[in-house]
Amino acid sequence: MPNKKNRFYATTPIFYVNDAPHIGHAYTEVAADVLTRWHHQRGEESFLLTGTDEHGEKILRTAAANNSTPQAWADQLVKSAWLPLLETININNQDFIRTTEPRHERNVQKFLQALYDKGFIYQGSYEGNYCVGCEEYKTDADVMPGEGEYAGQVVCAIHSKPIEKLSETNYFFKLSEFAKPLLDYYEAHPNFVQPESARNEVVAFVRRGLDDLSISRSKEKFDWGIDIPWDDSHITYVWFDALLNYITAIGYGEDEAKFKSIWPPKVQIVGKDILRFHAVIWPAMLMAAGLELPKQVFGHGWLLVGGEKMSKSKLTGIAPSQITDTFGSDAFRFYFMRAIAFGQDGSFSWEDLSARYESDLANGFGNLASRVIAMVNRYFEGSVPKHGHYTDADKKIQQVAAKAVADADAAIEKLAIHEAIAAIWVLVDELNGYITVQEPWALAKDEAKRDRLATVLYTCLEGLRVLAILLAPVMPKATNALWNAIAEINLGELEDQPISKAAVWGQLSHGAAVREIEALFPRIEQE
Ligand code: MSP
Repeated sequence: MPNKKNRFYATTPIFYVNDAPHIGHAYTEVAADVLTRWHHQRGEESFLLTGTDEHGEKILRTAAANNSTPQAWADQLVKSAWLPLLETININNQDFIRTTEPRHERNVQKFLQALYDKGFIYQGSYEGNYCVGCEEYKTDADVMPGEGEYAGQVVCAIHSKPIEKLSETNYFFKLSEFAKPLLDYYEAHPNFVQPESARNEVVAFVRRGLDDLSISRSKEKFDWGIDIPWDDSHITYVWFDALLNYITAIGYGEDEAKFKSIWPPKVQIVGKDILRFHAVIWPAMLMAAGLELPKQVFGHGWLLVGGEKMSKSKLTGIAPSQITDTFGSDAFRFYFMRAIAFGQDGSFSWEDLSARYESDLANGFGNLASRVIAMVNRYFEGSVPKHGHYTDADKKIQQVAAKAVADADAAIEKLAIHEAIAAIWVLVDELNGYITVQEPWALAKDEAKRDRLATVLYTCLEGLRVLAILLAPVMPKATNALWNAIAEINLGELEDQPISKAAVWGQLSHGAAVREIEALFPRIEQE
């Protein structure tokens, strides 16, 4: 059985299939993927889960509006949009769960039955304001007066669409009983909800007290969901169903050994709009079932367009392929992880993306790799030169590399992905500065300085080796191209290189082949 200590299980939210993905969805995926790849290179057995959320009124209505059945609609969207998204942005997930799969449906029922048998579920009636966009009952604090076509109506603060009055006899989960245990848990585990702002918001929310949660809908209203096992006139509330994907995907209810070896997640990445579901309702459900809680729930910020959360329903959605078609998946991943402090909101603009591509990728990292490899080919017939005595300047590069490794690893530990990349970039900048000062092209003109030239270029190649390892989780394609050119033959696959040993100097052996490469980040013609 795998050693649980070295397991890194991470999850993304599962995505509604009412529409095609935009860059806000891709952002969540990339962050989780970068973290998972990093942990893999730390030598941990990493497992990334993602998937789709296919039940509920929102999907049913969208399907009907498109003259389709919800299942056919979901099948078509998963195939044409959500699975291809993973290719577009190069996500290396170990599983993909759809909530309409039998492995999910039957074990959601098992979970419900277990809670019912333990007395955590009862029948009651409810009346409230429901937002179909959020699939959630709304409190007064979550709604606002409508504008424009909805003037005079009350709208959801997130979707700006009218809320609907619902009144039903439903089954309820005794969420109110968990306010105290949750507060105790947050207190004892300060890292459970992060970042700090998210944690404070959640604690304040739970301190105000929790209402019991309606977890079923009568089939008389609509019937796209999982049957309540003891009453087939009701279906399961879509969020209660969806949250359980994190356990049904890894064997809950039917493969105890697998489940035990993977559960609980080290981190669950979610957008801040769905934080309460993950930091309040979900842990309460797990407590009720007697299951261990995830180690951390991290709520990231929103991508904003024109100061508002980007969304398809507000017509501000940008498809990820609009960016990757021109800039490539590596630049997409780099840009969103580097430009936005993970945990905070960030505005997207094409100008900012182009500027960073040009300065950091084409001129910074890409040009560094091209120059070094071209010089090794020109002056040493494409083989790793033999270094001589190291000067202080060379040793400085070794120290900067070691610090970049340590700083980046520490930043990833606290999920500050943007800081990790900034720490790695210190080495990119240092190497570019080193080349300017050492002037290898001038050394090459003097046969007496051949030994010095070899040492300078060896130092540059080693620096590139470290950069390839550190940047592989963020930019898998470019770093693999670089790795294949300078190191693959004697060091093996890039993704198997341990972060902890990245800065151990001198791993490239003298005489190994260095192959020419195409520009890693070609310049993009401005239209
Ligand atoms: N289906 C639910 C999640 C269930 S998890 C058990 C859902 N789906 S969603 O498709 O609407 O959103 C999925 C994720 O995308 C959420 O984490 C959400 O925060 C994120 N984003 C959607 N729009 C976003 C931005 N504009 N910016 C950043 N992330 C955004 O909610």
